[in-house]
Amino acid sequence: MAVIRSVIKGVGAYLPKRRMTNDDLSKIVDTTDEWIVERTGIRARHIAAEGERTSDLGYAAARKALERSGLEPRDIDLVICATATPDRTFPATAVRIQHMLGIEHGAAFDVQAVCSGFVFGLATADNFLKAGQFKRALVVGAETFSRILDWQDRTTCVLFGDGAGAVVLEAQAQTGTREDRGILATRIRSDGRYEDLLYVDGGPGSTRTTGHLRMNGREVFRHAVNKIYGVIEETLHETGYTADEIDLFVPHQANARILDGIAKKLKVSPEKIVMTLSQQGNTSAASIPLALNEAWEQGRVKENGLVLMEAMGGGFTWGAVLARW
Ligand code: UT7
Repeated sequence: MAVIRSVIKGVGAYLPKRRMTNDDLSKIVDTTDEWIVERTGIRARHIAAEGERTSDLGYAAARKALERSGLEPRDIDLVICATATPDRTFPATAVRIQHMLGIEHGAAFDVQAVCSGFVFGLATADNFLKAGQFKRALVVGAETFSRILDWQDRTTCVLFGDGAGAVVLEAQAQTGTREDRGILATRIRSDGRYEDLLYVDGGPGSTRTTGHLRMNGREVFRHAVNKIYGVIEETLHETGYTADEIDLFVPHQANARILDGIAKKLKVSPEKIVMTLSQQGNTSAASIPLALNEAWEQGRVKENGLVLMEAMGGGFTWGAVLARW
């Protein structure tokens, strides 16, 4: 039976120029390179320049993704930006990216699911394309987390970085089997009982300020592996694949120990896992497309390869996407 699938046409990414190492951080807060590497796997992160906005990062990533897709901005009729660090409270950062690209038709909006934002964005775009409402979507994950960090809190400021990544999706008629190209299954979840474990302590509707990121890292860690494993299992079950059939595992990059835990539980061999964490830190909604971009540039994303993406973030929110390249 013919069905519409969202086929990934291209990927792109952008990192701000300034690189901040763990040693640089140890001059700001009471920390060491040794502690950060051992507990997280992070060695460096990129920080947006003064005046460089989330939309600037997202635009640069989007341009690259379009170029590699062989498409023009006018071919895109849906722009989704996953971000927790929008340029402004409104309008949506996606609308600014749409405008920067010179697109005047279609729709653009932001998705707010923090670190799971890119997975939520892909799932949203996929449903619009499958419903026939749009033909080609640009899904961007872009963040300037450096702007919402408390640079005096060593338990959080060492973990995050800035950056952006993007993919172009195109609606294509496929056969309806699991051998199809494109997005094969998505799962998104959320549970607000855990709000106080990872949040920003400000906002226009409460404090009228931007606020700073607050996290009970140990508790978030405790939930991460099982929640992520659960949604991965569901996407595999829906498609009838087993974890050993995955060609590339592109997880959200929060902590090397979480990634190891999931990989062990799934029994995915280490060479299939994409790890960008050590040089980028946790870039929230940007981390999956940044990792996908790096894998693509290294020739690790093969035509027809089965790609698994997953994330978990504030809310809690969590989700997984299984796609064939
Ligand atoms: O993407 C969103 C999802 N977020 C995550 O997935 C984050 C999940 N959590 C984590 O990655 C880890 O919990 C952290 C990396 C945040 C923390 O690692 P941990 O092994 O859970 O450490 P901890 O919070 O239990 O802290 C251990 C010790 C504490 O000292 P005491 O109380 O044992 O004396 C901290 O004060 O390490 C101390 N510590 C630090 N020491 C040096 C905390 N941060 C630092 C630091 N440098 N930057």
